[in-house]
Parts: sequence; structure tokens; C-alpha cells
Amino acid sequence: MEMALKRNYEDVDSWKTIMFLYSSALKEVGTKLEILNDEFQHVHQYNPIEHIKTRIKTPESIVKKLKRDGYETSIENMVKYVNDIAGVRLICSFTSDIYKLAGMIGNQSDLKVLSIKDYIKNPKQSGYKSYHMLVSVPIFLSDSVVDTKVEIQIRTIAMDFWASLEHKIYYKFDGNAPDYISRDLRECAEMVSILDEKMLSLNEAIQACLGEQEEARKDAQSMPQDG
Ligand code: GTP
Ligand code: MG
Repeated sequence: MEMALKRNYEDVDSWKTIMFLYSSALKEVGTKLEILNDEFQHVHQYNPIEHIKTRIKTPESIVKKLKRDGYETSIENMVKYVNDIAGVRLICSFTSDIYKLAGMIGNQSDLKVLSIKDYIKNPKQSGYKSYHMLVSVPIFLSDSVVDTKVEIQIRTIAMDFWASLEHKIYYKFDGNAPDYISRDLRECAEMVSILDEKMLSLNEAIQACLGEQEEARKDAQSMPQDG
């Protein structure tokens, strides 16, 4: 990325070039994840991903984040310090799917995992839970290869429900929600964790029960028939 940046730095088109790289990286990673999901379906008859959301950060929120973190607004700083210009969110049914997917992503030889934040094992003060991976993907241009960063957030449907509500509330109160609201949100986060655990053990019980039924059916078929 630094190389491409230097080459184009004086160029009026450099912003467009950089954004082109990020949207290409998003496409690459999105396709990879769809393939992983399809392969998993093919082998295990099961989809670990419920849905995939991708987004490119708007220029306004890139500038806002640079200001928040005390950096001057420049393309160089944006490439260096804003890690979520290209973002992918993977929504799964169960917490176990999150770790399955993280492992599958980590095993992709052309993706470099730059950092991992496990807010499921270590939830944020707000109650926020999610698994974050910062990866870079090589983008092959006609005359160069540019490693481009993509932030992948992996969470369950329940965690996503909580995060989207909390996000709206955070914005409504400009980050200063009354204490009782923050407390209630943390309580909801706790309920989300309990729900996720229950759903996971229920799913395991369902799988075990189906397995037993299948075994019983096979046994019945292999019995000698009367008459
Ligand atoms: P920024 O806060 O984005 O600068 O990133 P960071 O470097 O601190 O990384 P972090 O992993 O903490 O957060 C990255 C992203 O996770 C955010 O942009 C949000 O999308 C999401 N996130 C983090 N914390 C919260 C939270 O408390 N509530 C909600 N709703 N989302 C959060
Ligand atoms: Mg943060």
C-alpha cells in the first residue's frame, strides 16, 4: 500500500485509486468467504454464515476517525491508521461457528492476519461482543501487487442485534448515554450471552438426537425381515 501511495501521492486521482483498492479488497474477501461457506455446505450440509454484510467507510467518517485519534487528514494517515475502511461483517447462528470461521479465514494462505481482537472472550466495557480480525489481501493490478487491509467482524445474530441497538443509542446520546441506560444495555448483553449459550446447547442436543434416530433407522434396516 505504501508503494502505491508514494507513486500516486501527488496525483489528484490518488483518493480514487486508494478507494478502488479497498473496494477490490472487499470483493476479494467477500468472494472468499462465500466460497468457504459454500464448501462447508457441500461437505457438512450446513452453512456457518447466516449472512455477509460489506461496506466501505464514507469519506466523512474516515476524516472523523482521523480527527478523533489526533491525526491530520491525509491519504497517508488514512491508509496507515484507519483499519476499517473496508469492512466485512459475518453473522452466524452459533458462537461455535465464529471460531470455525476464524480458523478457516486464518488458514487462507493468501490472507495475512494482521491482528485479532476477541471481544467474546473479553467483552468491552459497554457489553459489546464480537470477534474481530484485521487481514490484508493482495490486490493484483496490471503493474503491481498491493496488500490492502480489510476488517472482518464475526458475531452471532443475537450479538448483532445487541450491537446495532447499542450503536443507535450511542449515536442518539452522542456517546453520553445516562447511566441507567448503559446499565440496562450491559444487562441485555448478559441476556444475549445466555441466549447464545442456550441456543448452542439446544443445537447440540438436536444434532445428537438426530444422530441417534439415524443410527436406529440404520439398525432397523439391517435387521432380517419377518415373513
Ligand atoms: P475504532 O473504535 O473503530 O477506532 O476501532 P478500534 O481500533 O478501537 O477497534 P475496535 O475493535 O475496538 O472497534 C472496531 C469496530 O467494532 C467499531 O468500529 C464498531 O463497528 C465495533 N465496536 C467496537 N466497540 C463497540 C461497542 O461498544 N458497541 C458497538 N455497537 N460496536 C462496537
Ligand atoms: Mg474503539
